Amino acid sequence: MLELQNLSYHPATAASPVLQQVSLQLASGEAALVAGRSGSGKTTLLELISGLAEPDGGRILWNGEVLTARQRRWLCGLVFQFPERHFLGLSVGQELRLGQRRFDSERASRVLQQVGLGEISLQQAPERLSGGQQRRLSLAVQLLRDPKLLLLDEPTAGLDWTVRDEVLELLQQLAGERALLIVTHEPELFAGLVQRAWRLERGHLLTMPSLGMG
Ligand SMILES: Nc1ncnc2c1ncn2[C@@H]1O[C@H](COP(=O)(O)OP(=O)(O)O)[C@@H](O)[C@H]1O
Ligand SMILES: [Mg+2]
Repeated sequence: MLELQNLSYHPATAASPVLQQVSLQLASGEAALVAGRSGSGKTTLLELISGLAEPDGGRILWNGEVLTARQRRWLCGLVFQFPERHFLGLSVGQELRLGQRRFDSERASRVLQQVGLGEISLQQAPERLSGGQQRRLSLAVQLLRDPKLLLLDEPTAGLDWTVRDEVLELLQQLAGERALLIVTHEPELFAGLVQRAWRLERGHLLTMPSLGMG
């Protein structure tokens, strides 16, 4: 279980605190989202959780233990906003190998299958894939690391509606196996997927009871 206790983040270069006293809990197997306007601190929150940045105050715990930034980088799989802009590999196969100590090609095939890319060639350039396939590949790269906590930054941003539905359907399948935290400016899309929702406003995290969730 992930637990954030009174996280604060106020870089010297920011006029006001980006995050103030942010607390939340997220259990394994749960899917949740954090909504908020552009600039409300959603990406920053994911950077803190995933160990890409250090909070100025507060604690980040997993199963009751405080984690260092390094430990959090191992724990989390972070899929950036517009992940396709960060492809480094010359081929799908290379992209999957990045960040892997030992590459298990059978596991890679299983993960590709899981994200609906079972049929694609590993020799193909990632840039040649369709928009939806590129998003699936970005997810596969993180899933291959088997993160306990999957963090998704605006997973539906910039997608047309057919691709968007494709991605939502995939996330539905992935939810439940690990802790899943989505940050988004369009929370309505995820109403059927998440069990909990919060909203970031002026640096504060507020519970959002009404997403139309059953
Ligand atoms: N290291 C930093 N230095 C200065 N300002 C920052 C820093 N990190 C984040 N911010 C500011 O925090 C605010 C929230 O940014 P961000 O987390 O990207 O919001 P969102 O993802 O919700 O659009 C922005 O105003 C941004 O400029
Ligand atoms: Mg952002």
